[in-house]
Amino acid sequence: MNEEQALVEIEELSKEIERHNYLYYVQSAPEISDYDFDMMLKRLQDLEEKFPQYAFDHSPTKRVGGDITRKFETVKHRYPMLSLSNTYSQEEIEDWVNRISKTIDGAIHFVCELKYDGVAIGIQYENGVLTRAVTRGDGEQGENVTTNVKTIRSIPLKLRGDYPNDFEIRGEIYFPLANFEALNREREEIGEQLFANPRNTASGTLKMQNSSVVAQRGLDCMLYGVYGYSGAESHLESVHHAAKWGFKVPTEKKREIERASDLNGVMDFINYWDKERANLPFEIDGVVIKVDSYDQQEELGSTAKSPRWAIAYKFKTERVETTLESVVYQVGRTGAITPVANLSPVQLGGTTVKRASLHNADQIGKLDLHIGDSVFVEKGGEIIPKIVGVNEDKRKIGAQKVIFIDECPECHSKLTRNEGEAQHYCPNDTVCPPQLKGKVEHFISRKAMNIDGLGSETVELLFDKGLIRNYADIYELNYDQLIELDRMAEKSVNNLMQGIQASLDVPYEKVLYALGIRFVGETVAKKLARALKNIENLINAGFDELIAVDEIGEKIANSILSFFSNEDNIRLVERLKNYGLQFEVEEVASASDKFEGLSFVVSGVFNAFSRKELKDLIESNGGKNVGSISGKTSYVVAGENMGPSKLKKASDLGVKIISEDDFIAMLNKE
Ligand code: IVH
Repeated sequence: MNEEQALVEIEELSKEIERHNYLYYVQSAPEISDYDFDMMLKRLQDLEEKFPQYAFDHSPTKRVGGDITRKFETVKHRYPMLSLSNTYSQEEIEDWVNRISKTIDGAIHFVCELKYDGVAIGIQYENGVLTRAVTRGDGEQGENVTTNVKTIRSIPLKLRGDYPNDFEIRGEIYFPLANFEALNREREEIGEQLFANPRNTASGTLKMQNSSVVAQRGLDCMLYGVYGYSGAESHLESVHHAAKWGFKVPTEKKREIERASDLNGVMDFINYWDKERANLPFEIDGVVIKVDSYDQQEELGSTAKSPRWAIAYKFKTERVETTLESVVYQVGRTGAITPVANLSPVQLGGTTVKRASLHNADQIGKLDLHIGDSVFVEKGGEIIPKIVGVNEDKRKIGAQKVIFIDECPECHSKLTRNEGEAQHYCPNDTVCPPQLKGKVEHFISRKAMNIDGLGSETVELLFDKGLIRNYADIYELNYDQLIELDRMAEKSVNNLMQGIQASLDVPYEKVLYALGIRFVGETVAKKLARALKNIENLINAGFDELIAVDEIGEKIANSILSFFSNEDNIRLVERLKNYGLQFEVEEVASASDKFEGLSFVVSGVFNAFSRKELKDLIESNGGKNVGSISGKTSYVVAGENMGPSKLKKASDLGVKIISEDDFIAMLNKE
């Protein structure tokens, strides 16, 4: 393939991939399977690696992230990012509508929209290509978060149709509830503290330095305002145009946006969403009402803070009062203790609430809870409602203060709390029953060993019958023991035995994840497996070696060290090894062993190769890629734009810095 052909195919593929992205993420109407999509993306990635001169900034391959932004640059907004005046009162909405109607001669149309509860973003497009995305900041200037914003699949990198040459579009980046809950489930699994709500998490995610983590989290974006565009006479018209350019905008079909010609229309929209918002797959905190005509907007103007042509009606978070009956403490797989409040049943947001999460000891202390208290309960971004306050006037004399436990409710070990962490833990992880069961449940779960035929009920049963105490015991189970169990017929026993047998082929990275080392989630397990190749290397790795692995920081390194310093864990691993589980990565054939024993840090942009290509070359010639520079690094391959701090670190540590040409010379040397 010559350069010209490559360029043609790259352009065609990019266009087609973006079309499928649009169909999937904006229209929710995919035309091809995920597999076919992945194959197209892979082909594009391969071509861009071979022809890096055509790896454009707006290529859909940029959506997987990978670039690290050390510090976000502060940039001035072209148009100030104002905020909205808001109210909780329908009378004030009425006053606002009346005031506007008096100020403006002639008919007025309003546009009603949802008030998305996320982070405001302004995105600039030049000649149809996304060039810059900036957070609100103080309204005058914000942070340049372009790299992270590009990973959001519903935001077009290149526009379609008849778009203006230079304009800005604004909207809200938010965390869809399903993705937020999945993220928290994952965090719970690896013993990380849970995120409090989707909005703050969206904001935190957008400011993460590693864009590949942002790409994995599944943020979304709804666009609701076009700036610097003279091709429309009204707000609604410009939203319709933006839809044609490929943006995800609110639609009339779902009643996310609606024109209203009077107060009745506005109120109808408000009342509809006050009820319906509970069924949305994302959070809103109100509705926004805007004057539709741009001329009328201009006539009304703005104050220093907010436009006079728009107002937000905020929904009151539904809050109920009920009695705190008791506080119980749950013990998780990692030993984390979660206090849960038992409440007198009460209706909230269409469901009966009996329990509320209390998060941790600090939360209990802050609320100054007493048993029998009349407490206020709200439903926020989480499924489980939370206690937000106490009606102290109703507290009974002599009510017993809730004091956080100091012993594990299950095994009575003394609880611990690490400095800087809010959570208490039961440290007795080799004896405490819920921890043991939790570890087995994690081990067999779909993303780990994926043992078919073994669910949490069976695990419970196996524990109760004394047949297992840890995950290694699973491999000692036999037919005769299993057939004796309640509800276990021949078919299910065979199924389970086959599932156990099949797990012997599960690759090392999944086995490593299955071990349940705190903070070692799926991605971290993959990185560790690839970097250190086998379990012996991992067990023997010291702190420095661990943190040299891409994405492994101090916290994870310490957790790994502590896991393997426990003899019980080493014995478990030994047993699993003897049963035949995979404890090393499958080797890829090496082109040579020229770089045997050498470790490389690749940084910056290169001419002859893409970064990925360079790294592959290092590995296929026996070398090792490491994520950060340490005294043990053999070479830093420095491309253009390599950060000055990295260069300094390399020279301070006396690590050799070589150019791309030096690297090629090393490769070609006999
Ligand atoms: S219009 C000058 N429309 O609310 C008015 N804002 O308090 C520009 N928001 O910073 C904003 N949904 O982050 C507008 N449909 C919507 C919105 C919306 C959410 C946010 C936005 C803004 C804040 C204002």
